[in-house]
Amino acid sequence: MKAAVYTVYGSPEVIQIQEVDKPTPQPCEVLINIKASSITRADTMMRQGTPKFGRLFVGLFKPKNPALGTGFSGIVEAVGNQVTKFKIGDAVFGEKLFSNGTNAQYICVDQEGIIVLKPDHLSHEQAAPICDGFLTSYSFLKDIAKLQSGQHILVNGASGSLGTAGVQLGNYMGAKVTGVCSAKNAALVKSLGADEVIDYTKTDFTKEQIRYDVIYDTVGKSSYKACKNVINDNGVFVTPVLSFETLRYSLFKPKKVKFSATGIRKLVELKALLEELAMLFEQGILQTHIDKTYKLEHLVEAHHYLETGRKVGNIVISQS
Ligand SMILES: NC(=O)c1ccc[n+]([C@@H]2O[C@H](COP(=O)([O-])OP(=O)(O)OC[C@H]3O[C@@H](n4cnc5c(N)ncnc54)[C@H](OP(=O)(O)O)[C@@H]3O)[C@@H](O)[C@H]2O)c1
Repeated sequence: MKAAVYTVYGSPEVIQIQEVDKPTPQPCEVLINIKASSITRADTMMRQGTPKFGRLFVGLFKPKNPALGTGFSGIVEAVGNQVTKFKIGDAVFGEKLFSNGTNAQYICVDQEGIIVLKPDHLSHEQAAPICDGFLTSYSFLKDIAKLQSGQHILVNGASGSLGTAGVQLGNYMGAKVTGVCSAKNAALVKSLGADEVIDYTKTDFTKEQIRYDVIYDTVGKSSYKACKNVINDNGVFVTPVLSFETLRYSLFKPKKVKFSATGIRKLVELKALLEELAMLFEQGILQTHIDKTYKLEHLVEAHHYLETGRKVGNIVISQS
């Protein structure tokens, strides 16, 4: 089968599409014929080996795991002899977290992993990126920020993968949503459910009079220090982007500043969130915004585009 492989850290050019052995499912695994997969900021960081301290976990001098890609959507083609939760022919989607390998034609996933049945009306392309933006943002809004109906949330970076999900989820959870993006993405962010949109190239929300219950800085372009005057007394600053300052504040002001990462949460909790999200997609309440779709053969080009920092929503690798 074809798979994206990288054996050294570096620019997108280190990626090669190679013929590798098709995997065989272990007793508790399903073999998935991948129809679409995602490429995310996490994939570019794995490829670059950044931040450098991360190499302690993913390989000091070269990647321990040469496979790329985390989100997937596809059809179960075979099941291990202890699999009870899925059957051949099921359409499924999910994420491989740190073990990667979804930018390929096939992968094996444990039935207890982050994998759920795909809603029928959702295409594989729409389902593959859900675990990046939606799973992360739902984890942040529901469990980390504990967003309540009637509260006011500001989503900074509202046009990104996490941002387009955060705006929709904030709206679904009954909050008033202010999205921060540039003018070219304002109409999209409004259409996703933002009550107000702030153009960050013209207005610095941290200098305005409006105060928020939750500031969700999806892109790590602001900070608690900059935002503290526009956060309500019981409000909170949450971000998925770790910086030294966020780390320091989250240790010394843990009620005010919170960092989290999808990968550090328990599988069972993530799977429960993903099942809820699948239901919301089934009901047509949420939608994946896809910026560009590439073929696996053009993964290098896709990584270059992702690195511009200008993508709107998600990038998908499609096998069809
Ligand atoms: N902790 C976790 O578990 C976790 C999970 C997933 C992702 N992440 C991290 O979350 C971050 C966001 O990922 P993402 O994929 O959502 O980002 P992204 O899609 O790459 O963000 C791109 C978007 O950000 C907008 N943007 C750029 N500068 C901005 C600014 N100063 N203010 C407001 N918007 C701005 C861009 O719009 P314009 O072109 O209009 O500027 C573009 O639409 C990444 O750093 C990623 O590594 C963390």
